[in-house]
Amino acid sequence: MNLLITGGAGYIGSVLVEDLIKKGYFCVVIDSLETGHKRAVDPKAIFFHGDYGDISLLKKIFLEFKIDAVIHLAAYTLVSESTVDPGRYLKNNLAKGIMLLDEMVKAGIKKIVFSSSASVYGEPKRIPIDEEDPLVPTSPYGLSKKLFEEILEWYKKIYGLKYVSFRYFNASGASAKYGEDHHPETHLIPNIIERAYKIKKGIRDIEPFHIYGNDYNTHDGTCIRDYIHVKDISKAHILALKNLSKLKYKIFNLGNGSGYSVMEVFKTTERITGVNIPFVIDKRRPGDPAILVASANRVKKELGWKTDIPDLSDIINSAWKWKLNHPNGYNVL
Ligand SMILES: NC(=O)c1ccc[n+]([C@@H]2O[C@H](COP(=O)([O-])OP(=O)(O)OC[C@H]3O[C@@H](n4cnc5c(N)ncnc54)[C@H](O)[C@@H]3O)[C@@H](O)[C@H]2O)c1
Repeated sequence: MNLLITGGAGYIGSVLVEDLIKKGYFCVVIDSLETGHKRAVDPKAIFFHGDYGDISLLKKIFLEFKIDAVIHLAAYTLVSESTVDPGRYLKNNLAKGIMLLDEMVKAGIKKIVFSSSASVYGEPKRIPIDEEDPLVPTSPYGLSKKLFEEILEWYKKIYGLKYVSFRYFNASGASAKYGEDHHPETHLIPNIIERAYKIKKGIRDIEPFHIYGNDYNTHDGTCIRDYIHVKDISKAHILALKNLSKLKYKIFNLGNGSGYSVMEVFKTTERITGVNIPFVIDKRRPGDPAILVASANRVKKELGWKTDIPDLSDIINSAWKWKLNHPNGYNVL
């Protein structure tokens, strides 16, 4: 099967392309490299440095490589940035997405797997969060994902598009070759790991790690999130591609189905790295729900998916190993 992967030079895309290639898929990647890295693209993939909203590039790729399906990961992903510059997010994540769908329709490509997000739910009404729960995004980023899911449903009705939308919870961990290298890094695990690494290297002058709120209604007062290994995310996409034509449901949560608190992640990282990391308790950040944990029942039942790496220690360990082997991320100094 010939695939186009948008955003394949990003964190999740890099691991997914690696796994797809191992499984024998032919992969073409488009990435603008705004937050991704050329070195993160498996050398066996065909890589185009470009914009997934570039219609002439899409036409050329669809024609030249006889693409059967698209995996659409490309997006801007910073929730807080989207609340100060909504247009940038809606144009990149939504308007260009519509252009992609139209080009797929013109080229007769009927299959797409889309990277949605837990942020479509906003403040959850209950835990674990079910796919049928209300969608009340609290940021333009979350809105862009929610609206694109609705658009996919219309393209299904009107053009017979077959799609799966995965609502990822907190992607984390790394493969041996590919990991997380964002600037700025907003995700919890790589942020703690970065501090541990610096301390290990003798750098003492580091900003303490900020824990935002320890007065939430959770067992240790810090927020609880659902961490899912990036390899498990990748595995779900491969199952979706195989089963796309016969699925009852189109929308699936992708989470571990259990959560860990910020303090547990912090303490586990200290244990794995063998480093005491300075931290401060800061005030709560606006819009941070106490608990965000997925119900993963639907994806388990319908796709036969299960996590291979559910344990927090294993998740953090894979990210730590990646950091030790790639101290400067993809920037080889
Ligand atoms: N990382 C998570 O925890 C998480 C959680 C929920 C959803 N998601 C979604 O998963 C997808 C991948 O996330 P990630 O963490 O790998 O982010 P990432 O920033 O590492 O990857 C996104 C990639 O898309 C590329 N890109 C952005 N706009 C583009 C454009 N117009 N044309 C071509 N390439 C473009 C970037 O350069 C980058 O390589 C995103 O859609 C994101 O919204 C991620």
